[in-house]
Amino acid sequence: MSLRSSLLVLFLAAAPAAAQDVLLKVEADKPGAKIDRHIFGQFAEHLGHGIYEGVWVGPDSDIPNTRGIRNDVVAALKAIKVPNIRWPGGCFADEYHWRGGIGPKERRRAMVNTNWGGVIEPNTFGTHEFFDFIEQVGADAYVSVNVGSGTVQEAAEWMEYMTAVHPTALAQERVGNGRKAPFQVPFVGLGNENWGCGGAMSADYYVDLMKAFARYTRNYDPDQKSKLIAVGPDGAKTEYTEAVMKAWSERVWSWTIDGLSLHNYTLNGWPPSVKATGFGEPEYAKFIEETLGMDTLIRTHSAIMDKYDPEKEVALVVDEWGAWLAPAEGTNPGFLVQQNSMRDAILAALNLNIFARHAERVRVANIAQMVNVLQAMILTDKEQMLLTPTYHVFHMYVPFQDAAFVPVAFDKGRYTVGDVVLPRVDAIAAKAADGTLWVAVTNVDAGRAVEVGLEVAGFDAASARGLLLTAPRVDAVNTFEAKDTVAPRPVTLSNGRLQLPPHSVAVVGLKPR
Ligand code: AHR
Repeated sequence: MSLRSSLLVLFLAAAPAAAQDVLLKVEADKPGAKIDRHIFGQFAEHLGHGIYEGVWVGPDSDIPNTRGIRNDVVAALKAIKVPNIRWPGGCFADEYHWRGGIGPKERRRAMVNTNWGGVIEPNTFGTHEFFDFIEQVGADAYVSVNVGSGTVQEAAEWMEYMTAVHPTALAQERVGNGRKAPFQVPFVGLGNENWGCGGAMSADYYVDLMKAFARYTRNYDPDQKSKLIAVGPDGAKTEYTEAVMKAWSERVWSWTIDGLSLHNYTLNGWPPSVKATGFGEPEYAKFIEETLGMDTLIRTHSAIMDKYDPEKEVALVVDEWGAWLAPAEGTNPGFLVQQNSMRDAILAALNLNIFARHAERVRVANIAQMVNVLQAMILTDKEQMLLTPTYHVFHMYVPFQDAAFVPVAFDKGRYTVGDVVLPRVDAIAAKAADGTLWVAVTNVDAGRAVEVGLEVAGFDAASARGLLLTAPRVDAVNTFEAKDTVAPRPVTLSNGRLQLPPHSVAVVGLKPR
């Protein structure tokens, strides 16, 4: 039997005869689409303490910083290899005027952040500070231009300011403000939720406007290309998907787009009232049930996109997703502060798995939001910082960035809570460039452990090790007093099986022999 055609049941020689709960049949010999690293993107809006305090403390702060940007936050984000950061919003983007955020500090234009708490936005963190930040992190820029209350001219000039290589007036202004080389702008969002906070536009109205933005929002640097992302659907509504994709299929030479945005939060109703912690199993199950709807949503919009774009040239960009919970007690409700539990880590893993399964179409995604807002990676309190359970999932999933999706067949089982029936387990696999086969398994069941067997076709494994994330309770959170209540620990296969405690996520790498 040749190595490639061999069926390897990992370490089964040592395994007892008893059957495992779930058998994952990993087809390592059938690698598929690349899981784009950009599905692990972040979103950082001028909202609450997402930017100010979370990222920016100013150069005079006692909190260790580099040119005003927190060193601890940068180090944590580097460790999860953040591929791109979407900025400055969100709803904020459609009221943002970039000129207010450049030049000497005393000339920055203070404005009211009408969307988020009605507080003063000092514009201290502007274009140069954003690029300094993402360059420290090593992430790509995803800049959203103002379609709702801005003009085509304003967006075009911002692009010229950021990217012009020739000594145009705007390029010289940029140099005068301390930046000689053009900024790299790989992604540009053409507005944000223009069906809602971005001007409540009909799909047809947005499409006409978007074409002009797509035409003139140019990258002026011949050595770079910006991918343009149009506003797409609000959850399950399909008007924008139809209108934008139809227009794209009938486009003329002067404009195009590269992506269509989809926003979808897990909420269990509006206004958001689901508790961050202290919830029971029925609430947990209902929340997870809703989040799994992301798959249907992607299928629905992908089917429309396939009709106009069978070659999948336009990416579906899920640039706002995550858990939106009740605001933390005692906080400004407009700041969207929420704790982050083991449930949210499971939610993150399930959504990342869904994106990976749709890797051919979903090529960018941004969890909302990076620091101190909604389903954050990081929470800060003055000089303190903690990593949330969701952060740990992103950390564990780093090996999936740009790896080739590998099919896994398994019986998902049933996890029943009242009238909610969920899959008991979920899993994905991928092959990394160095040949390592990575398997991620989630035990969704909050009450029962699961024993997972691995059957790997076309792969000769020399060793297996990885990380397991779980917690004493599914609603466990990390606090500034106890930062590691939910933290990953090493895991390996024992007797060829992976033991997953209730409500847990494991990522295991199998090294080739
Ligand atoms: O992430 C918070 C808000 O949710 C964003 O500003 C907006 O785009 C969405 O409605």
